[in-house]
Amino acid sequence: MASIFLPFFSAYLMLLLPLVVAQSSAGDIRVGRSIEATRDAKPWISPSSDFALGFHQMENDKDLFLLAIWYYKIPARTIVWYASGTKPAPRRSKAELTADRGLVLSDPRGQLIWRSEFATGDVAFARMNDTGNFVVYGGGSERLWESFENPTDTLLPTQVIQRGDKLSSRHKESNFSKGKFQFQLSEDGNVLLNTNNIVSEFFYFAYYNSGTGDQANKTNSGYQVRLDEDGSFYVLRGNNQRQSFISGDGVHYEDYYHKVTLNFDGVLTLSSYPKNPISSNGNWDVRTTIPDNICITGFNQFGSGTCGYNSICTLKPNKRPQCKCPRGYSLSDPNDEHGDCRADFMQGCEADPQSYHQGLYDLDELQNTDWPTYDQEVISPCSADACKAYCLQDCLCSVAIFNNGKDCVKKTLPLPYGRQDRQVNPIAFVKVRKAEFAHRNPPDISTVCEKRDRNSLTVLISVLLGSSMFVNFILVGVLCMASSFLYHKRVTRNHSNKNGIQSSLCFFNYKELEDATNGFDTELGRGSFGIVYKGVIKSDSRDPFEVAVKKLDRVVQDTDKEFRTEVSVIAQTHHRNLVKLLGYCDEGRYRMLVYEYMSNGTLASFLFGDPKPSWNQRTQIAVGIARGLCYLHEECSPQIIHCDIKPQNILLNDYHEARISDFGLSKLLGVDQSFTNTAIRGTKGYVAPEWFKTVPVTVKVDVYSFGVLLLEIICCRRNVEMDVSDEERVILTDWTCDCFSEGTVDALVENDAEALTEKMKLERFVMVALWCIQEDVSLRPTMKKVLLMLEEMIMVAPPPLPCPSYMLA
Ligand SMILES: *[C@@H]1O[C@H](CO)[C@@H](O)[C@H](O)[C@H]1NC(C)=O
Ligand SMILES: *[C@@H]1O[C@H](CO)[C@@H](O)[C@H](O)[C@H]1NC(C)=O
Ligand SMILES: *[C@@H]1O[C@H](CO)[C@@H](O)[C@H](O)[C@H]1NC(C)=O
Repeated sequence: MASIFLPFFSAYLMLLLPLVVAQSSAGDIRVGRSIEATRDAKPWISPSSDFALGFHQMENDKDLFLLAIWYYKIPARTIVWYASGTKPAPRRSKAELTADRGLVLSDPRGQLIWRSEFATGDVAFARMNDTGNFVVYGGGSERLWESFENPTDTLLPTQVIQRGDKLSSRHKESNFSKGKFQFQLSEDGNVLLNTNNIVSEFFYFAYYNSGTGDQANKTNSGYQVRLDEDGSFYVLRGNNQRQSFISGDGVHYEDYYHKVTLNFDGVLTLSSYPKNPISSNGNWDVRTTIPDNICITGFNQFGSGTCGYNSICTLKPNKRPQCKCPRGYSLSDPNDEHGDCRADFMQGCEADPQSYHQGLYDLDELQNTDWPTYDQEVISPCSADACKAYCLQDCLCSVAIFNNGKDCVKKTLPLPYGRQDRQVNPIAFVKVRKAEFAHRNPPDISTVCEKRDRNSLTVLISVLLGSSMFVNFILVGVLCMASSFLYHKRVTRNHSNKNGIQSSLCFFNYKELEDATNGFDTELGRGSFGIVYKGVIKSDSRDPFEVAVKKLDRVVQDTDKEFRTEVSVIAQTHHRNLVKLLGYCDEGRYRMLVYEYMSNGTLASFLFGDPKPSWNQRTQIAVGIARGLCYLHEECSPQIIHCDIKPQNILLNDYHEARISDFGLSKLLGVDQSFTNTAIRGTKGYVAPEWFKTVPVTVKVDVYSFGVLLLEIICCRRNVEMDVSDEERVILTDWTCDCFSEGTVDALVENDAEALTEKMKLERFVMVALWCIQEDVSLRPTMKKVLLMLEEMIMVAPPPLPCPSYMLA
């Protein structure tokens, strides 16, 4: 049967064909036509020339193109639809109308980037319609695919949003990746604006809800969102009632283009543009926005809202948000104005010793400003002055919100949903570190050991804990590579002068330093490298400042060049627990290094002097030293072995923060660190046993010395003390071992009430110290692990016993 009819059928088709072609002739796109992604590729234009589909060259990368639909007559490119926003097409990609797959976007090598997805059917032609809808038609003129059914961030007149449909924001104005906001008509008939987690597509709470859903009476619920050609924008309810999003403003909008766009900042705008170019001012007029004021709208619980964390949102006249960082804060990503803000200064309980905390900060008073969530503590009733004082006294407090004379709420960073608006009543007090203290602790994000960001630290730790040694090894390697990359970047950014020494490092001549030290008259200390003098540098441009001048007495480098190379290495080693090198002098036989002055002297005098430092101060100092060492070992390239860790080489600044001095000098002084040296470096009592053996010297010698130092810090006494009542207590390391094995670590801090109240911490510190002084090098932990153990980020296992026997070198 079929064979009989076939010829007739074909003839019938032949007759039909010219009809189809005729139907698609006026500006329609036939199968096989294509556009190539180049700057001046001709787009496919709708018959009235209102809309065009073509390649839009990306602003940030001229080699990338976005397949998009835009208004052809409006000079400023306004994109209303786009394909593959996440992955724009490279230059010379091709968009082609194919018979089987409709519109296909492929890269220059023919790899598929995107295609119009439809169930089945053969494509006859496509049309860029005057409404802005790009439609792919089948042989019977049925619509196989249309851009209106696959919206991106914009709704056009005659386009309809059904239940379950949504618009998604772009990532940024000129980045078309999916952003974090969505506009949708939910299955129960509510029009919602949500933020979502881009990674998981998890919906957070709606920050707008039209309330058109009605669970009980479905016939009343919203079932479509429509934008009409006259610019009316509404939800159509089951009973055919319209619930409008705008109240009529008495203007006839027939001769305007209209569009509804979910902007990258989460604001949905209905805007209009006159079709007649004469009445146009070149801008889209925003007729309404949803929500009315995104800064004070009901974001809650998750995400950071329209601005990033710690940012403050204000509404611009066009009802779009402006995000700005408080004074003393700046954008984490300078290119992302809507991103997070980060303090330019260090703050928090670890950065500031308790007793000095208050004087370090100013409070900025911001009227009509609030961060409404994440309350830490509420004080009520409270006066403004008391509120300020509460925040200044509390090292955890970064911001205090003062409510109308009623109460005071302390808050800790990071804070979302910051806002400043006339409708907002509270006053925000923002703590900003005083300029003179800010530079002492420059933020140093590149240091792994230093990670302040709680989240990433937790992730790091949980990864470290939950993975094998091998993975840890790789991970630490990657982190070190990443940080050394940042480190190098930072170094290269500081312009070097022709000697290869950073220009931030000052060169001094002998005369200048002689004057500064008043003829080298005040001696601060003597070390293995020479004598240290106190000095004052005076200059016209800034206030006089105190320095420590180290006169090196046995530098081996012959040439100035080598000396300068070494100095520049030290100068590039920055960390808040290292003494900073400010300048140098190499004139004739004089070689001197100029360091920042540490007003509180050495740890030795603090620890063994009178009165004794508190337990809290001591533990903070110990952690600070561990951080500094961790930095030298893990993040410097080449790695720096200190070789002489002892209380005399730890200096204390104005706030009794520990700074390690004398690092990086070994090479300068010709000490070969790779193998045992006849001249043992280090100091009696602190040197590791392997100095006496023919094994390579590694960073673990510092770990050993740190262990001894840690015990001294815990017990506030020297490792070897002859005039003690009990002979067993002469050598601290031995005595600690005894105490630990007998379970009497309390005895180590006998008269220290504060330490005795923190028994767990005491035991942890003692165990860490015992791990550090293991004779077997391989048993000693790395400084990184030491730091994690001290900070209670990982568990400390009981150290192996019997203890190493102390070596009197
Ligand atoms: C194409 O545009 C015309 C008017 O310009 C409109 O009537 C028609 O519905 C549109 N077709 C589609 C499929 O959008
Ligand atoms: C757009 O932003 C995303 C997310 O930040 C980023 O991964 C992507 O590379 C950006 N795309 C372009 C073309 O810049
Ligand atoms: C639903 O609402 C419509 C219109 O308000 C009303 O006529 C109808 O009786 C309601 N149905 C129910 C089940 O309440």
